[in-house]
Amino acid sequence: MGHKNIPLPERRRLRSKMYKKHNLANILTHWFNVGMWLLLLPTGIAILSSPRLGLSPLWMQEMFRNVFGGTANLIRFHYTVGLLWIFVLVFNILVGFRRYFVPFAATRLLLDQDDIEWLKTKPLQMLGFMKDKELPPQDAYNAGQKLYMYVVIFGTIGIMVSGVVMTFNQVFPPLLKQIAQPVHWVSVFSIVAGLIIHVYMGAVFPEEKEAFFSMFSGKVSAWYARAHHEKWYNEKLREEMAWEDLVRQELARSAEQHAQEQPATAD
Ligand code: HEM
Repeated sequence: MGHKNIPLPERRRLRSKMYKKHNLANILTHWFNVGMWLLLLPTGIAILSSPRLGLSPLWMQEMFRNVFGGTANLIRFHYTVGLLWIFVLVFNILVGFRRYFVPFAATRLLLDQDDIEWLKTKPLQMLGFMKDKELPPQDAYNAGQKLYMYVVIFGTIGIMVSGVVMTFNQVFPPLLKQIAQPVHWVSVFSIVAGLIIHVYMGAVFPEEKEAFFSMFSGKVSAWYARAHHEKWYNEKLREEMAWEDLVRQELARSAEQHAQEQPATAD
């Protein structure tokens, strides 16, 4: 049954039941990342703002230079924040590698056949074709989100490695320095291109309101899960049923044990 045909009382029940989607470590890492991007992106653009390239308006170039007291300081600020960003992210991944990173990669990142089907259909639907075709059910993240996560992971590695090469350019061979700059640019550009959709979907798109708040509370309602991430919702149901089975077995076992002990205590 499609989620649009669910009777009202069942809707209410699903809306009030919450599932945990994000753990605190992921939430903190995500918002730390957002904060770092807010500092790195404008200062990075400001560094590149030469009148010759014409990438940003003159007032912006002047504003940043005035705020930081010159280009040298601006560059120093940019790479210091960049190094802090690298340190915290790498530290987080190493500390939480087995507990968070591997389970996340294994359960939430891999693309399956349904995802491939989704990727084939969704772009056409956005262009107004195949409107009647039902999209395959999705995991905790839909195929578009999964794909973007790969862009974020590889783009972030590209930015970090090239950033380190540019910061400590005296110790690297000239060829590496030349490669580092375009790698830095392309990596930033690929993340920012998707980020526009990511931020729009996360912070503005009404249907995804719950996803936005889940990045603070960690939770989404069963209603949202069922409507947008049906495969993940079914997995949660299976987990619940397995848990209920376990409780039932445990109760039966203790009742049996109790019954066996009864005659002994009666004597
Ligand atoms: C103000 C800016 C941002 C907003 C409003 C925002 C919003 C969100 C939301 C709502 C989710 C949860 C999606 C879901 O559960 O279905 C999410 C997850 C995610 N976001 Fe963002 N985001 C922002 C910036 C960024 C930036 C700058 C990056 C990386 C460059 C990023 C990368 C990710 C990734 C990889 C995930 C999935 C991993 C996780 O759940 O921790 N986001 N974001």
